Amino acid sequence: MLEVNNLSTFYGNIQALWEVCLTVEEGEIVALIGANGAGKSTLLHTISGLIHPTSGSITFLGQRIDGLSSHTIVELGISHIPEGRRLFTDMSVRENMEMGAYPKRAWSQKDQTLEQIYQTFPILKERAGQLARTLSGGEQQMVAMGRGLMSRPKLCIIDEPSNGLAPRLVLEVFQIIESLREQGITIFLIEQNVRHTLEIADRAYVLENGRVTLDGTCKELLKSDHVRKAYLGL
Ligand SMILES: Nc1ncnc2c1ncn2[C@@H]1O[C@H](COP(=O)(O)OP(=O)(O)OP(=O)(O)O)[C@@H](O)[C@H]1O
Ligand SMILES: [Mg+2]
Repeated sequence: MLEVNNLSTFYGNIQALWEVCLTVEEGEIVALIGANGAGKSTLLHTISGLIHPTSGSITFLGQRIDGLSSHTIVELGISHIPEGRRLFTDMSVRENMEMGAYPKRAWSQKDQTLEQIYQTFPILKERAGQLARTLSGGEQQMVAMGRGLMSRPKLCIIDEPSNGLAPRLVLEVFQIIESLREQGITIFLIEQNVRHTLEIADRAYVLENGRVTLDGTCKELLKSDHVRKAYLGL
C-alpha cells in the first residue's frame, strides 16, 4: 500500500533522514520506534507532504506521492494524526471534527462518518459542543484521532498518540487503534511506548539517527537484544 524507497530529507544543511526504506501492506499495523530526535516525525511529515524529500520516492497505492501537496495526499486517502494533537483550541469538538472532513469525497458523507466515529469514541458525542481547549489531555487525543478519521482514510499515520496519557488511557488508545484496523484502516504508528506497540503491531522498524537500523515482525524484534536493551529496558 505504502512504499518508501531510499528517502532522504534535509532541514537546510542538516540531514534528518538517510535513505529510509519501508513498506506498509494493506490491513497491517506497522510501527516505527526510535528515540527522541531520531527523525520519526520528520518521516511522517515527509509522507504526508508537509515537507518534501531531497531524494528517494514515496508510492501510495501504486502512485508516486512525493512532491504532491498535503491536501492532495489527504484526498488520496492518507490521514496524518499529528504529534501533540494540534487541535483548533477555540473551536468546539464537533467543529474540530468537521475540519477533518474537507476532502471532497469525505464532505458529502460527513454526518454519517461523524456518527460512526461517535460509536468508537462515545465521549466525543457527549462533549460535541465543548471548546477543545477545555478537554482533558486524553479527550483531546480522542478528538485528534476522530478528526483524522473524518477524511475517511485508507491509511492512518499516527504520531505518538499515547504521549502524556495516564496508563488507563494509554491502553484505551491502543485498543482504539486495534479497532480501527478491524474497521479496515491500515495503520502506520509512531510510539515511544514500545512494549504495547510491539503487542498490537504486525511489524516494526527501528529508526536511529535518521536511519532504519532494524526491522522485522514484532515477535522477532521482541527477541532482539538491542531492542530489549535500548527500548524495553530489559
Ligand atoms: N523544522 C525543523 N528545522 C530544523 N531541524 C528540525 C526541524 N524539525 C526537526 N528537526 C530536527 O530533525 C531531527 C529529527 O526530529 P524529529 O522531530 O523528526 O524527531 P522525532 O523522532 O519525532 O523525535 P521525538 O520523539 O522527540 O518526537 C532532530 O534533530 C530535530 O532537531
Ligand atoms: Mg516526533
